[in-house]
Amino acid sequence: MSRSEHTARHTIRVGLGKRSYDIVAGRTMRPALVQVLETKRVGEKIVLITDAIVGALYLRDTERVLRRAGYAVTSLVIPQGESQKNLSRVGSLYTSMLKAGVDRKSTILALGGGVIGDLAGFVAATYQRGITLIQMPTTLLAQVDSSVGGKVGVNHPLGKNMIGAFYQPLFVWADADFLDTLPFREVVCGMGEIVKYGIIKDASLFKYLESHLEQILQLSRAPTDYVRLRCLEIKAEIVSKDERESGLRSVLNLGHTIGHSLEAAGSYRVLKHGEAVLLGTVAESYLAKELGLLPEEDFQRIVRLINRIPIRVNIRQFHLPRILGSLKLDKKSTDKKNRFVLPVRIGEVKTVEGISERLISSSLKFLSSARSRT
Ligand SMILES: NC(=O)c1ccc[n+]([C@@H]2O[C@H](COP(=O)([O-])OP(=O)(O)OC[C@H]3O[C@@H](n4cnc5c(N)ncnc54)[C@H](O)[C@@H]3O)[C@@H](O)[C@H]2O)c1
Ligand SMILES: [Zn+2]
Repeated sequence: MSRSEHTARHTIRVGLGKRSYDIVAGRTMRPALVQVLETKRVGEKIVLITDAIVGALYLRDTERVLRRAGYAVTSLVIPQGESQKNLSRVGSLYTSMLKAGVDRKSTILALGGGVIGDLAGFVAATYQRGITLIQMPTTLLAQVDSSVGGKVGVNHPLGKNMIGAFYQPLFVWADADFLDTLPFREVVCGMGEIVKYGIIKDASLFKYLESHLEQILQLSRAPTDYVRLRCLEIKAEIVSKDERESGLRSVLNLGHTIGHSLEAAGSYRVLKHGEAVLLGTVAESYLAKELGLLPEEDFQRIVRLINRIPIRVNIRQFHLPRILGSLKLDKKSTDKKNRFVLPVRIGEVKTVEGISERLISSSLKFLSSARSRT
């Protein structure tokens, strides 16, 4: 591949009327950042929020680029990890920002993975009734999914993502150069959302994953760029049609109902979000197959693809009642009925309510036997 292809930038528009914005995706994009900030008339005060790992790798360079262009940068670095996505961390960020004199014309730049995007996004949505937000995702998961769509928020002790808002960024800046330092486990997490996009909307993306999986797991450039762009296009399209999840957007929850309960069963410390989504997708595909919605052949393809993705967590350590218990707390469940997004073929899903606990239990048993065979 030629250098010009490496550095090519693509712009995907998220069409939301006045709140429309661009996702800029490519490689080696840092030299162009300042120009885009100027075009978008970003004010001179920037609050850069990042975590300690991303900060150690990218903070100095990012600050330097911004300061050289005349921006006043306040950097706030928090510890890494899902456990930071909570209200007390939100409070401490507010305090630092107030002390630093951050005002309504300031801009928050969220530099990091989905945790930073969700957390800093929530701070941006609420600080002085909302200040400008730029998403600069640095994980594969964030670059294919979480940085787009405006869902921001934090966890509550009683449930994941229970406190939040819809708050769209000014733009999303997805530079694949960041992925060079990503640990393999985080690449696996990104695959959780990528496989999801194939199943919910794009059979040819799924087929591409079947033939290029190992290359993508190694972050080979051309295949990674292709899937990144395709996922971003699909997410942009879905969000444009249903920003607040009144219907269509819920398809993005494939694998997430059981996925969230697996995350919760391990107290958010055992499984990472993307890993839980992969496992949840297997279990939910089993439900679909057992209900006669998903053809056996498509089911087998889904299980085979996900089984090729190494998840180094033994899910047998989870107790079934604990998983079932946290399913009941999931926000997508109504009082009486649970609700699942299930595949009807590769490339299409539908919502199904009221699945019996017995069937859910057997899907979890299937999951643990499917994983132990790999
Ligand atoms: N808002 C949404 O629509 C949406 C969608 C999907 C997931 N999410 C949320 O996203 C979160 C998961 O995001 P994630 O998987 O990006 O996790 P994360 O933000 O915790 O990042 C994973 C790890 O990778 C490190 N890291 C990040 N970028 C790096 C880089 N370039 N090089 C080296 N290390 C790097 C981080 O420090 C962290 O330790 C969950 O909280 C989930 O709920 C939100
Ligand atoms: Zn997700």
